[in-house]
Amino acid sequence: MNLEAMRFIKKMSKLIITLFGATGDLTLRKLLPALENIIKNEKHPENVTILAIGRRKFTSEDYLNFVVESKLFKGDINLLRKHLIYVEVDAYQSATYENLHLLYKGLTKNIADVRTIFYLAVSPELFMPITENLKANKLIKKGDLNTIIAFEKPFGHTFEDALYINEYLEKELHRNQIYRVDHYLGKEMIQNIIDLRFSNTLVSALWSNKYISEVKVIVSEKDGILNRGAYYDEVGVLNDMVQSHLLQVLALLIMDIPKSLSSKDISKAKIKALKKVKYDASNSLLGQYDGYRQEKGVSEDSLISTLAFLTFAVEDKRFAGVPFYLFTGKKLAKKEAYIEVILKDAPGSHLFKNTSANRLIIELAPESRISLEINGRTDGNNNEVSKLVLDHCFTCLFPSAVKEAYEALFIEMINGHRTLFPSWEEISVSWDIICQIRDEKPRYIIYEPGFNLGGKNE
Ligand SMILES: NC(=O)c1ccc[n+]([C@@H]2O[C@H](COP(=O)([O-])OP(=O)(O)OC[C@H]3O[C@@H](n4cnc5c(N)ncnc54)[C@H](OP(=O)(O)O)[C@@H]3O)[C@@H](O)[C@H]2O)c1
Repeated sequence: MNLEAMRFIKKMSKLIITLFGATGDLTLRKLLPALENIIKNEKHPENVTILAIGRRKFTSEDYLNFVVESKLFKGDINLLRKHLIYVEVDAYQSATYENLHLLYKGLTKNIADVRTIFYLAVSPELFMPITENLKANKLIKKGDLNTIIAFEKPFGHTFEDALYINEYLEKELHRNQIYRVDHYLGKEMIQNIIDLRFSNTLVSALWSNKYISEVKVIVSEKDGILNRGAYYDEVGVLNDMVQSHLLQVLALLIMDIPKSLSSKDISKAKIKALKKVKYDASNSLLGQYDGYRQEKGVSEDSLISTLAFLTFAVEDKRFAGVPFYLFTGKKLAKKEAYIEVILKDAPGSHLFKNTSANRLIIELAPESRISLEINGRTDGNNNEVSKLVLDHCFTCLFPSAVKEAYEALFIEMINGHRTLFPSWEEISVSWDIICQIRDEKPRYIIYEPGFNLGGKNE
């Protein structure tokens, strides 16, 4: 047992967060900063302990030095030092969980209602062995809803994979102990889609084919696959971006008003919405950037796509005839992400010169902002209007008030809520859509790095 660290922590814990994959890129860049913020802002029950799990022979101090030297974590290491213990565990070796078991016993002795979160920031092959070994070592018990496991995306590499993992988990755990992570749902502007759509007459009245002409969801990245070639060459853009993040965004854009804001009702509305989505192969394409096959870890004849331009119809009365475009790719001209809702011309627009289509833009990156573009008189010219922008930029006005996605996800898990986590049924319907795309392949192109999508202001 890591006694040296136990002495440091001193107090008993009401909240224990155990990070598998603690030496990985995701933990260093996203999870530790999110936890540091939560501790700093005291958005947690008293006495939180972070157990960082890895296979390397580190003491807790070695691990903290490793975190600093990685230069990926830019936060306050001394704050983490007060709460963190490194524990050596090999996911596959049941005997190595003994250390973890002893630590838990020590940290929770005589304490009731300890909230325990196991966060699996590891590849999906490890999901089942870790769950099995946590159970075998009495670290998690089916039905104890105060102990949960979060599974990082991807939740399996194929639908069959995901189904197999899910069947196993739902047999071994209560379904409310299983949290499937899609960090897009933790982004404030994605959460805002529900608020915007359903709390505003102005927006909800427009939300049909009577007024909307088209909707675009654009996530454009300047970077390539960086040093994650082996991972990316297995998943490609469809699994990495579309199956999870973009179809979730689409579901939020087209779902009916949920009965309530409970995770169950929101999930029901999303599932119903996704079942109406029909992919249009003739107006879609996939692509790969020139030079991708020369990237480290990528096979030299890889057909994996790094770009997707996908068109969908929504088969119901409300959206008949409105195309929904999902566009995402790597090595493009700009890094930006936004949702653009373009409205049809107003009945009297022919009376004016210089009108432009009204647009509602929900920007996710580089800023978090909402803007509404309308026509109005600006310089007194007869019959001539120009574009007026009603703009609210959250990150410009309150930079520190906009939470990082992973921080929102941890807060949701600490509080036992599930709205920011997709249900298995949502994941399963999304896979059906990905299967439609794989069955009916669209046109395939090789594109030049730096390819310009145009962007919302061009
Ligand atoms: N990085 C991102 O931005 C990102 C974003 C979204 C989702 N994800 C997903 O999150 C997962 C982790 O990503 P990552 O980028 O952090 O990967 P990574 O840098 O390759 O790290 C993998 C982690 O898994 C641990 N691990 C591997 N085998 C293990 C075993 N047998 N026992 C215990 N630990 C083991 C490694 O520990 P050792 O040090 O002992 O090898 C390391 O900490 C992947 O599935 C990835 O697709 C990543």
